[in-house]
Amino acid sequence: MTESVSTTEPQIHKGLAGVVVDTTRISKVNPESNSLLYRGYPVQELAARCSFEEVAYLLWHGDLPTSTQLAEFEQTERAGRQLLPNVKAAIDLLPLTAHPMDVCRTAASVIGASHPAAEDSSPAANQRKSVDLFAAMPAVVAYDQRRRRGQDAVPARSDLGYSANFLFMAFGEEAAPEVVTAFNVSMILYAEHSFNASTFTARVITSTLADLHSAVTGAIGALKGALHGGANEAVMHTFEEILAQADGQDLSGHVATWLQDALAAKKKIMGFGHRVYKNGDSRVPTMKAALDDMVKHYNRPDLGELYDALESGMAQAKNIKPNLDYPAGPTYHLMGFDTATFTPLFVASRIVGWTAHIMEQLEANSLIRPLSLYNGPEERHLP
Ligand code: COA
Repeated sequence: MTESVSTTEPQIHKGLAGVVVDTTRISKVNPESNSLLYRGYPVQELAARCSFEEVAYLLWHGDLPTSTQLAEFEQTERAGRQLLPNVKAAIDLLPLTAHPMDVCRTAASVIGASHPAAEDSSPAANQRKSVDLFAAMPAVVAYDQRRRRGQDAVPARSDLGYSANFLFMAFGEEAAPEVVTAFNVSMILYAEHSFNASTFTARVITSTLADLHSAVTGAIGALKGALHGGANEAVMHTFEEILAQADGQDLSGHVATWLQDALAAKKKIMGFGHRVYKNGDSRVPTMKAALDDMVKHYNRPDLGELYDALESGMAQAKNIKPNLDYPAGPTYHLMGFDTATFTPLFVASRIVGWTAHIMEQLEANSLIRPLSLYNGPEERHLP
């Protein structure tokens, strides 16, 4: 009997573009209607009306908390905010030149290895580990920035909300209410975005039945890249380059020249384009409004002018629209964060989305293991 051999080659989906690999109830990205829903709620409504803590609860549990549930959740979160001595010691072992994303990745790993439920992946343990990591990460991000500035860690305040406390730990003083609001908006917008590269990484790791912190640590690695979370940092490098070239003169003219040169050199302009949204990122208008508030608050109209000039230049030259990282980068800059700290801020927020997906993956797990088409040398043998 002859074996039947298929003559059709399998179709390859480079970058998994357009491939639907599973279902999710956590968020819906709809490029046609340019909308993003978290558990059914438009993200713009949540950003306008909710605290980040409420949105985190929603993403994990499927519904917004009642006042009693919120109070209980806030109590746990506020109790877990201090920088643990072993986490601080691990950070201090890293050179001051270490990228803050490497610091976050290391801290997530140390926090995981020291968690009392480290090897317990039951739903209750994973829920608790998610809240604990969510509570702990701001102190890591804030302390790492402070140590690079030669400053001591600032103890967490349990009388402040998540965003106000985060800013307090980073800068050692209470932020103005409008700054807290803009920061809260950015945290909500960054929290979740379906099967993006880092979330998919977390789901792949989880599918092997590795623990939650291993999955988050891997996800942080995936987020570091400039094609993903690293873009908010890269946007600021672009802004800084243009601002330095312009030196206060004819900013819009310099933007046009810079863009022309960059596109002629076939450079990707960071903060523009998206794998899913081709007609604009649904989160951008909300984040741009927050940036506008910060431009006013800090009286930096030059940043607003640069933003608009580069956006319209990209629209004209390539018809490519900004993604969330474009307004988020300059917003964090105005608040006083180091450029290298921007992606760790994204980590602090996306921990919610990652851990929600880790728990969802485990509810109906199947090992994620795709196939490849071999195109190396034919079988050969040692001489
Ligand atoms: N700057 C310049 N050109 C861009 C671009 C950008 N930011 N984004 C896409 N393009 C161009 C590509 O060069 C390509 O042109 P070509 O067909 O002439 O070769 C075309 O648009 C399609 O881009 P491609 O990279 O294949 O699309 P993708 O869906 O794989 O990429 C991104 C999506 C996000 C990776 C891509 O837009 C990008 O690299 N953006 C910059 C990084 C960024 O901001 N990342 C954050 C994402 S939230």
